[in-house]
Amino acid sequence: MKFSKTLGSTAFKLEQLNSDTPLGGFACPVEEYNAYLHKEAVQSRNDHVALTWLLRERSTGEIAAYMSLIADAIKLSVSEKELHDLDYPFKTIPAMKIAKLAVSTDFRNKYKGIGSFMIDSARTIARKCNEYYCAARFLTVDADIEHDEGVLAFYEKNGFLLNSELYNKNRKTISMRKDLYR
Ligand SMILES: CC(C)(COP(=O)(O)OP(=O)(O)OC[C@H]1O[C@@H](n2cnc3c(N)ncnc32)[C@H](O)[C@@H]1OP(=O)(O)O)[C@@H](O)C(=O)NCCC(=O)NCCS
Repeated sequence: MKFSKTLGSTAFKLEQLNSDTPLGGFACPVEEYNAYLHKEAVQSRNDHVALTWLLRERSTGEIAAYMSLIADAIKLSVSEKELHDLDYPFKTIPAMKIAKLAVSTDFRNKYKGIGSFMIDSARTIARKCNEYYCAARFLTVDADIEHDEGVLAFYEKNGFLLNSELYNKNRKTISMRKDLYR
């Protein structure tokens, strides 16, 4: 079944993880991401190094997906800045990074589009941040191709571009950006 924005805001809710949030048995195919949610995410929140958002199904209380967001900055080349109409002498542009993103296997089998819905939710959060608190022009991600090369296609389908500055430096992840205002 296709996961729509309406479904996401009616049958599901996006909530922030905190110390007493029930996590149930969330499981995605990558063990590292499961361990992060169950063992590290609360500490990271308490230490102010990553804020985790959960997508919870209202009827069952189960977690369909999670993402962790952090502040970021990326270096863009002259041609990359031109691409985004950023006419500034400096290279570094503020951003918000999706540091972790995972969809539960059970929910991925039920719905297509939960990962894309999470990216859209990150975009909404980043734009709110721009409106009220502090500036961030891009959503960024280090696409984890170590576990699954397909994630590159997933992010490209969601409008992310490769960053030339960090591309190829580390073959386990690929740095990407998505303009929040284009
Ligand atoms: C990667 C992940 C978040 C994608 O979530 P999802 O709910 O399956 O993604 P969507 O259904 O929104 O997919 C959107 C599009 O990307 C494609 N896509 C998604 N995951 C893909 C993959 N692993 N390989 C190739 N294409 C993929 C879908 O087929 C879909 O294409 P379409 O629009 O042409 O039909 C999810 O598979 C996951 O949690 N993986 C394990 C953890 C992980 O690797 N996280 C990424 C860390 S950087």
